[in-house]
Amino acid sequence: MTKIIAPKGTKDLFKPEILKWQFLEARIRQFFSRFLFQEIRTPIFEHSELFQKGIGSETEVVQKEMYTFRDKANRSITLRPENTPSVVRAIMENNLLTEIFPVRFFYIGPMFRYDKPQKGRFRQFHQFGVEIFGEASAEVDAELIFSAFGFLNEVNIEDIEIYINSVGCPQCRPRFLPELQAAAQKQQNELCPDCQRKISTNPLRIFDCKKQQCIDISNQFPKITDYLCQDCHDHFQVVQRTLSTFEVPFISNPRLVRGLDYYTRTVFEITSGQLGAQDALLGGGRYDHLFQELGGKDIPATGFAAGIERIILHLDEIPETKTSIIFIAYQNAALKTEAIKLSAYLRKKGLPVFMDYNARNIKKQFKKSDRVGAAFTFILGEDEIANQSISVKNMKTTEQIQIKREDLDQWLRKHM
Ligand code: HAM
Repeated sequence: MTKIIAPKGTKDLFKPEILKWQFLEARIRQFFSRFLFQEIRTPIFEHSELFQKGIGSETEVVQKEMYTFRDKANRSITLRPENTPSVVRAIMENNLLTEIFPVRFFYIGPMFRYDKPQKGRFRQFHQFGVEIFGEASAEVDAELIFSAFGFLNEVNIEDIEIYINSVGCPQCRPRFLPELQAAAQKQQNELCPDCQRKISTNPLRIFDCKKQQCIDISNQFPKITDYLCQDCHDHFQVVQRTLSTFEVPFISNPRLVRGLDYYTRTVFEITSGQLGAQDALLGGGRYDHLFQELGGKDIPATGFAAGIERIILHLDEIPETKTSIIFIAYQNAALKTEAIKLSAYLRKKGLPVFMDYNARNIKKQFKKSDRVGAAFTFILGEDEIANQSISVKNMKTTEQIQIKREDLDQWLRKHM
């Protein structure tokens, strides 16, 4: 029989790497509470329409990367490729705008994209993200970038660059796009086939192309920042000024467009020099019209999401916090029931306990006690049962003492 292995682009997590995940998740919860974010959990799968409408039908994510299938009732279902449309749906469906203030959420969880796996790129990957609703001011965008930067610093990731841009709004973008298309058409034959297709379908995406020749050509194209309407221009100025007030270093990059269609005004990405081609640690921006596009009211919104696997690549090993384990050894099978009772008693007290239910002799049990790294082995023999006591062996010093059952709690308080 062929061996069943994990699907391509997925991975199992266990010690020691999982210690980094636990550390990171705890830090996320702690850090983002400073900005009044509360946790939200949305389903892993949604109706496909949510992502088609929310992300944009011409995006790579929707065109090529979604895990979409029919369920048994023939509904089109998609494993979430990202969480922003789901959070918007959840807020509308549960009326959270009227129930919670401020409407600021964070999430941590798996996302799914049929991407080509490589270092830092998976098909099941994990994001933590934050979303802010009902706050339109440019300072909020700056605060969001400050929080992302601050968080990376907090977990000691320092070799990073912050790129920001404004992609305008439905008023100014239509003035820019024909100019961009015209410039691209002039050099159509020199662009790669993918970029040639994007000229008519989604010209902004040409700036995303990683091929050097397309980068060189598109560097000469008109810049969106030269076409911003007055409001978008002012908004972008305030974002930059406030970032300076927050002492966040940034690079303004007019090529930054992001791969999802819902953005308006501010967009940003934080990249790391250590990641190679998959260099984006996180990305986000303002999306003031997504609510309306999904059938809701006109609610301004802004947010970002970070790739947890990519952040984990930057973290140093996390030392395991050692807890003192008690191993319970019993001299013969007849004493097993007493040993089980003792294990239940200790676990109810909140202590980590291990025992071997198939133990054949005491020597083998001591070996197992060593293997689990027990601090103490509690030994139950005929003598101990007869005089209502327990022998306790300190596994480090090998010293062994006998304590009375009635003194057990006192001993535990002193040693555990
Ligand atoms: P995104 O740029 O598509 O934005 O993804 C955010 C981050 O997720 C990326 O910067 C990267 O670190 C990580 N990521 C994306 N795809 C993969 C993959 N295949 N393997 C590993 N990591 C990956 C969004 O998802 C938006 N929802 C962000 C946002 C929130 N915008 C506003 N609010």
